[in-house]
Amino acid sequence: MPDTHASVSPAKAATWTTVRSGRVRVAAVGDLHMTIDQAGRFGPSFRGVHERADVLLLAGDLTQNGTPAEAQCVASEVTGLGLPVIAVLGNHDHLSGAGATVAAILQNAGVHVLDETGMVLMCGGTRLGVAGIMGFGGGFAVVPGRRSDERAERFADALARLDCDVRVAMTHYAPATGTLAGEPARLYSVLGSSSLGEAIDAARPDLAIHGHAHHGCEHGTTPAGVPVRNVAYPVIRQGLRVYEVGGSSLAGTRQIQTVTARCRR
Ligand SMILES: [Fe+2]
Ligand SMILES: [Fe+2]
Repeated sequence: MPDTHASVSPAKAATWTTVRSGRVRVAAVGDLHMTIDQAGRFGPSFRGVHERADVLLLAGDLTQNGTPAEAQCVASEVTGLGLPVIAVLGNHDHLSGAGATVAAILQNAGVHVLDETGMVLMCGGTRLGVAGIMGFGGGFAVVPGRRSDERAERFADALARLDCDVRVAMTHYAPATGTLAGEPARLYSVLGSSSLGEAIDAARPDLAIHGHAHHGCEHGTTPAGVPVRNVAYPVIRQGLRVYEVGGSSLAGTRQIQTVTARCRR
């Protein structure tokens, strides 16, 4: 399994400039599905992202076939961007049975790969906590007496243990059905799981990011109202999205603002 990054000490973490106190600019994209003949494809979109965001989240399916060569291409795309990069793997990153190698290549490039783990970093004076898991399918049907999933429990624990001001959950599989709109209902069982949503709702993060649902939509919420954003590249149709997160003006009011919407296709 990918290496774990249980936490990054705020004292040791780099300091990044934020737009406003208490808010963090989160850039995100998933489902790059990189092949070796596409090397360099995302460079123009990623270049200068440090001026628009404090952190870049990669929501899995970074490679098409999960090969080390493809992982090297992804690593090249995200090296030297000038901001922290945090990733979870997707099902395609495991297609060649080399998920651990894919993760190691990304980690060697400075990417923090989360797998049922979390980390905290400083963004200006704001502590951003991110917990991640690839996740799994299973669907969203209500099954009385269903046993909780141990992977989801570890993810929930990682989310809950984040000591931070702004909390973000990242999965590859979808945690709720809202962002699956556009996908055939018969595929919901392979696109996500309500167990992931329950884990997220237990911790009530400020934002939940996922990918995997290429034909879904960008905006949704969990049953408890946590904002969910599907950042699969085919959905956002651009190199990345930037969301401004945190800094509620009213207690209990979440503010998620999409900062960028520039198309790079
Ligand atoms: Fe994908
Ligand atoms: Fe996927």
